[in-house]
Amino acid sequence: MPESVYAESLASAAQPHPQLHSRLQLTRLLADSGSNQTQADQGLQVIQGLSKTPKTLPAQYFYDDRGSLLFEQICELPEYYPTRTETAILQAYAPAIATLTGSCELVELGSGSSTKTRLLLDAYSQMGPTPWYCPIDVSGGILEQSAITLLQDYPTLNIHGYVGTYEAALAALAQPQLPTRMICFLGSTLGNLNPQECQAFFDQLTRSLQPGEYLLLGVDLQKSPQQLEAAYNDSQGITAAFNLNMLRHLNWRFQGNFQLDNFEHLAVYNAAEHQIEMHLQSLSAQQAKLAALDLTLEFEQGETIRTEISRKFDLTTLQQQLQQQPAQAQPGTTKRLQPLQTWTDANHWFGLILCQCQRG
Ligand code: TRP
Repeated sequence: MPESVYAESLASAAQPHPQLHSRLQLTRLLADSGSNQTQADQGLQVIQGLSKTPKTLPAQYFYDDRGSLLFEQICELPEYYPTRTETAILQAYAPAIATLTGSCELVELGSGSSTKTRLLLDAYSQMGPTPWYCPIDVSGGILEQSAITLLQDYPTLNIHGYVGTYEAALAALAQPQLPTRMICFLGSTLGNLNPQECQAFFDQLTRSLQPGEYLLLGVDLQKSPQQLEAAYNDSQGITAAFNLNMLRHLNWRFQGNFQLDNFEHLAVYNAAEHQIEMHLQSLSAQQAKLAALDLTLEFEQGETIRTEISRKFDLTTLQQQLQQQPAQAQPGTTKRLQPLQTWTDANHWFGLILCQCQRG
């Protein structure tokens, strides 16, 4: 285990809710923030992205405290239909999903505030006396807070949370505590991976799952460019503030001098690639520095930094892609993700796919 990786049981720390300790375990997999290695690695990704043509930035810089708050606001926006629609689908079908899988441990990638998870927990609480939930998130504060709230609201629930990246947490997952396990990846975060990253991610999921275990994916579906562009460029300017906050975050983290009012949020639908592309566009020819990275950047007027893509899926194509990707799990054994069932809303705006890991 690398030196910077450590595990900690919450029970050992001073906590305001002693009665919850026996049902809560937390494993921290993030290199501690003082680690020079981490700072250097993060800086490297920023330098690499900003040195490309066109310039890009790693999406992780959206989520400082302010960014996480703004994102919660995005999920409530009238134009941002995905959260609401996915919630409605789960409301209608969580019991059907639970009936299909039977009693199982829920693992959630990017659990955030765990709001939608409650619908699944409600369904799985009916199936067994002690439901298990394993939230995974890079934001330890949000994870811990929502875990405590869930334990208060679900008196028999057990939680083992992992603070870390998906990769690190999937590799560190303990043996399931129930007969089977379902990894949930909701909110169309899958769409924020490019096709190559998506393939690598499916491979990793396949390696992490045992035959018989499940994967539940929530994905945003293709629709009119007008509706998509409105969802990522809302009239209140919350998405713009969220996107621009990345520059504020970089200024803080790397002693930068980006002028936020000299950049503008841009969200355009690339119909050929079926993806929304989020940019920060320079309003003038300008220079910016990130002193801690010893980086000076030149921007032409109109030049953009691409900060995120959000791919929009077609359920049939995605199911075919899932099926066609046998991953070499261990030498001599192949496993794959077999789609079992899909659910969508009446408008076909958003979809859920339930897959099962199978041999061969
Ligand atoms: N997974 C979300 C999505 O693709 C993330 C998201 C929503 C997002 N709005 C955004 C990312 C604005 C960057 C900017 O819908």
